[in-house]
Amino acid sequence: MPQQPNLQEAFVRLMTEERDAYIKPWLVSWAYQDKKQVRYQEELPQDFYQYEGVEDFAKWFNWQFDTPKPDFFDPARIQPLLQQSLEFDQALFQRLGLPFPEVETYKHSIARNNAQDFCFTHMYELPERCQVKKVLDFGAGYGRQFNLWSQHPDTDIFVGMDAIPKSYCLQQLYYEQTNRPVVEYVDDPKGFQIHPTQKATYHLPTWRSDLLPDNFFDMILCVHVLPELNGKLVKHMLEVFHRILKPGGALYLRDNEEKWKPGFKFNLRNYLEKHGFSLEFRPYLIKGEDLADFSRIWRKNDPQVAVGRLQTKEEKLRQLAFELDAASQGRLRRLYKKIVRKV
Ligand SMILES: C[S@@+](CC[C@H](N)C(=O)[O-])C[C@H]1O[C@@H](n2cnc3c(N)ncnc32)[C@H](O)[C@@H]1O
Repeated sequence: MPQQPNLQEAFVRLMTEERDAYIKPWLVSWAYQDKKQVRYQEELPQDFYQYEGVEDFAKWFNWQFDTPKPDFFDPARIQPLLQQSLEFDQALFQRLGLPFPEVETYKHSIARNNAQDFCFTHMYELPERCQVKKVLDFGAGYGRQFNLWSQHPDTDIFVGMDAIPKSYCLQQLYYEQTNRPVVEYVDDPKGFQIHPTQKATYHLPTWRSDLLPDNFFDMILCVHVLPELNGKLVKHMLEVFHRILKPGGALYLRDNEEKWKPGFKFNLRNYLEKHGFSLEFRPYLIKGEDLADFSRIWRKNDPQVAVGRLQTKEEKLRQLAFELDAASQGRLRRLYKKIVRKV
């Protein structure tokens, strides 16, 4: 097995050095894990604040094996994605000297999970300005989104962000799997900078979101993350997401939505609507049967789109009359016609 630098030590040292300048406890906590003191079986990850070595990949993979991942996608679309995912992870395990899990189990779980996210984020045709070239994966797990996104020719800039030591260290190893350059904050905190024209992978901790440029990203991925965080962090990150997304940029959320929110208590959907986002896509599906969880795409409001949607006073009145008539099942219109005929 190749020698691995002591990633945990470097990350923890950095956290200590930057504590006073940048870190608040709520920024680096994983509320769900912290509150519930979650403990898993032996072959699964235990303490997420401790990276224990490359075997943590195998443990994280085991974590996903038991969860069924139903979907309805055309096999012709999904099979090549499963295969791409498999080859990427097999090469990673080989590089790290780890035995690869049983292929069918891997395909039904990890690969399927990757492919589903990829299908949902590439579901329908969009205008050129909505093409995704710059992506941020927030709360990136072991880094799995990088698998298919880094293999897509459109991906110019891929950024991973996390704050939890085990996740962060695994992401560092995962992002080194391709030959695209990796700019790692831990290696050079003072020199870290995102170059808009350089095709690269960037990796930085949650407490340095100030280094993410304004109006920059085409898409932010947040899969099974927000419901697990404390409310203060969620509100803070939504503010950051709004700042760093281009107008019309997408926020892809996938989780158990309002049904499972151990981290915070407010209504996320209302909050997003009031804070500059519009819901573009939420499929009408049976949870557990069609899909295991809910995928949605929100967009940062784009003034150009909003202008097209603005109504004059007259249009608003006509709209109101239309809705009242619909609510009265057409009675209002009939009454109006009667009156007009009489006059
Ligand atoms: C359930 S995992 C989901 C991982 C990944 N998005 C996926 O779908 O495989 C939750 C992720 O949120 C991350 N996380 C927890 N607290 C965080 C924080 N304060 N800042 C950033 N990420 C955090 C964890 O480290 C972990 O990577």
